[in-house]
Amino acid sequence: MTKKKRVGVLISGRGSNLQALINACKKRDYPAEIVLVISNVPQAQGLLRAEAALIPTLTIDHKDFPTREDFDAALDAALTDNQVELLCNAGFMRLHTAGFVERWRDRHLNVHPSLLPAFRGLHSHERVIAAGCKISGCTIHFVRAEMDEGPIVAQAAVPVLASDTAETLATRVLEAEHHLYPHALALVASGAVFVKGERVFDSNEQTQVPLFSPPLA
Ligand code: GRF
Repeated sequence: MTKKKRVGVLISGRGSNLQALINACKKRDYPAEIVLVISNVPQAQGLLRAEAALIPTLTIDHKDFPTREDFDAALDAALTDNQVELLCNAGFMRLHTAGFVERWRDRHLNVHPSLLPAFRGLHSHERVIAAGCKISGCTIHFVRAEMDEGPIVAQAAVPVLASDTAETLATRVLEAEHHLYPHALALVASGAVFVKGERVFDSNEQTQVPLFSPPLA
């Protein structure tokens, strides 16, 4: 197997997607390893998950920096110091500067709990339900300067039930996220996909990767 890609993960909270990535990285033939977890929130639960997995952690609190540029420069320095090759945002609640986004262009993934480009931004589940959608899901995409925008690597769909609240839908989508993020990171880390014209193609067929729908429990 070729060398595993060195991955950094940015978090702000619970870290359940981080946990899914940690679990995937334990597999011998998984093409990535997490070498650093950075939180902008000192008490983020995800930091404990990383520590339990013996992954180096850093807290870089945005409140300690006068500008977004300074904060992003500190993130970038830490990632560079640790020879990070691929970056995964996993519930990271800060917007990046255009310069940071450009520096990590096509090496930087995000997870969003809707089928983008629909329902960008916060509170997507409430808005999905209010709109009467029958399906929702999650998206793994490369990061661009606009929030929740960028080439889509993979999506998973889940049903929206008539009885759903934002909480029950969030739980169902989150379970799909936990399948989808390791899948998408493996595609990127192994070089199976590439970006062309703001779309993601698979390297052999030059076609888009098919919809990934994890089986429902
Ligand atoms: C996930 O729903 C993710 O899609 C969104 O924030 C949530 C983070 O959850 N961006 P966790 O911290 O990974 O548990």
